[in-house]
Amino acid sequence: MEKFLELISKEMQSAFEDAGYDAALGKVTLSNRPDLCEFQCNGAMAGAKKYHKAPLVIANEAADKLKESAVFSQVDVAPPGFLNLKVSDKFLQDFLQKMSESDKFGLQMPEKPKKIIVDYGGPNVAKPLHVGHLRPAIIGESVKRICRYAGHDVLGDIHLGDWGLQMGLIITELKLREPDLVYFDENYEGEYPKEAPFTISELEEIYPTASAKSKSDADYKAKAMEDTFKLQNGVRGYRALWKHILNVSVADLKKNYDNLKVDFDLWKGESDVHDIIPVMVENMKKGGYAYESDGALVVDVKEESDAKEIPPCIILKSDGAALYNTTDLATIMDRMDKYAPDKLIYVTDKRQDLYFEQIFRCARKTGLVKPETELMHIGFGTMNGKDGKPFKTRDGGVMRLEMLLNDINEEMYKKIAENKTMDDKEAKKTAEVVALSAVKYGDLSNQASKDYIFDVERFTSFEGDTGPYILYTIVRIKSILNKYNEQKNVANPEIEIRPAENEAQKALMLQIAQFNAMLEAAYEEAAPHRICAYIYDLANAFNSFYHETRILTEQDEDKKAGWISLLMLTKEVLETCIDLLGFSAPERM
Ligand code: ARG
Repeated sequence: MEKFLELISKEMQSAFEDAGYDAALGKVTLSNRPDLCEFQCNGAMAGAKKYHKAPLVIANEAADKLKESAVFSQVDVAPPGFLNLKVSDKFLQDFLQKMSESDKFGLQMPEKPKKIIVDYGGPNVAKPLHVGHLRPAIIGESVKRICRYAGHDVLGDIHLGDWGLQMGLIITELKLREPDLVYFDENYEGEYPKEAPFTISELEEIYPTASAKSKSDADYKAKAMEDTFKLQNGVRGYRALWKHILNVSVADLKKNYDNLKVDFDLWKGESDVHDIIPVMVENMKKGGYAYESDGALVVDVKEESDAKEIPPCIILKSDGAALYNTTDLATIMDRMDKYAPDKLIYVTDKRQDLYFEQIFRCARKTGLVKPETELMHIGFGTMNGKDGKPFKTRDGGVMRLEMLLNDINEEMYKKIAENKTMDDKEAKKTAEVVALSAVKYGDLSNQASKDYIFDVERFTSFEGDTGPYILYTIVRIKSILNKYNEQKNVANPEIEIRPAENEAQKALMLQIAQFNAMLEAAYEEAAPHRICAYIYDLANAFNSFYHETRILTEQDEDKKAGWISLLMLTKEVLETCIDLLGFSAPERM
């Protein structure tokens, strides 16, 4: 379906044309004087210079052509030449009716869907998820869902950190603690046990211990590096042990991401590209892109137009070891090879902005991607505590994600239990659903690149620009619909949307009508905050309408049914939007 603003612009453009002016002058925008009009067109002012005429004259001539307009019910000319507009109730009604009958509320599907890979999450194996993993998970999940809804073929890849020194550290520490494990017997040729020799809690203790030791003990670190090398070079027992680390850790990660309603199509990791690094390096050398500099192998990525210095991409260190970016580049090669994506989107901390600039340039320059392959980095800001500093536990430590979610669930449960509208079991479940909306909306309603303050009190409030407020609105609509169905004894009345009866209803309808334009922008900019802004306005518009209108006690059954279909559409749009943000609404709260 065409976008609402485009449709009404077209009408205005024909009016300008009919009056003998350039059609382009007829561009219509949202009104910045909502007290006067719903939309406006400032084209007459722009035309004044070109046609050497007073803007008022041009505006009046265009307005004259709109006397019979089916689109506008009001075309007022205001000095010096503004066109203040209101759309006709019938036109708006028809648009919404069509929207409610269309797939995805009339969102235009791409002619040729793109293959998109979203790289997000990026946790490291054997380390518990902490608050730093919250933003990439929440933003990445939403971006993935938005791309998919926009009609593209999308894969989410977790890109596990499963290959570096951290693996060697765990192996070294295990060997120290349990030297008799069969994995360390170099002469062993049989099958290795199916059961891992540790649990997730043991693993989560082993890693930090080993990491701390390696920082104060050079011998220990040397051993860990040697063990990393052995693992990467395929020593059988080490590989078997590593598989156990991976399995135990991934099972735990899945559980945690499940709680966040975040799921990945691909559980690939850095280790998956280990074997293709030599091929990639060879190609970069052969192509004349990679050269030796101070013993390291590098690719220059600076460009003439750079305002600041962009350092070369280091492909291999002087000892021949691969780096973080080597893996990322090899992963690009692997993805192009296996999935041929048209677009790659990365969601990481914005402190990696320069890093991704280097990677993207290097990938283009060395031909890892096609010239038309889109590469996008979404760099997000820091999640701060109320003190404005990066979010920490009360004693200043790194907070585990699980703890953070437990705290907010607890807070939400208190609020819901206070209302005493449901039994304890339902209250617990509902609290989890609402708490997730609080966390996700609190994050996503900010532009991703900005820092924000994680404020539990504000995020869990049922009022204001919060997730719970949006859910509360949906639950309110659900409750009206249920009551209506009880009155009528029919589910889903086959009634169409009717023209607005009052200003509040019209405002609600106008807000709904923005859906496809909003979603298109959210996709183009990979910007979930656009959806948040839209549903906050939509929820407000609905609540104003609700407070002004006695829906269920209305005597005129047709009128009532018309409202009910408007409510159904509002609910569907809201539910679709929150699903794109990665949360859902309970039945009641
Ligand atoms: N595992 C990395 C870390 O913990 C993040 C990975 C981000 N994604 C990427 N493709 N580099 O810092």
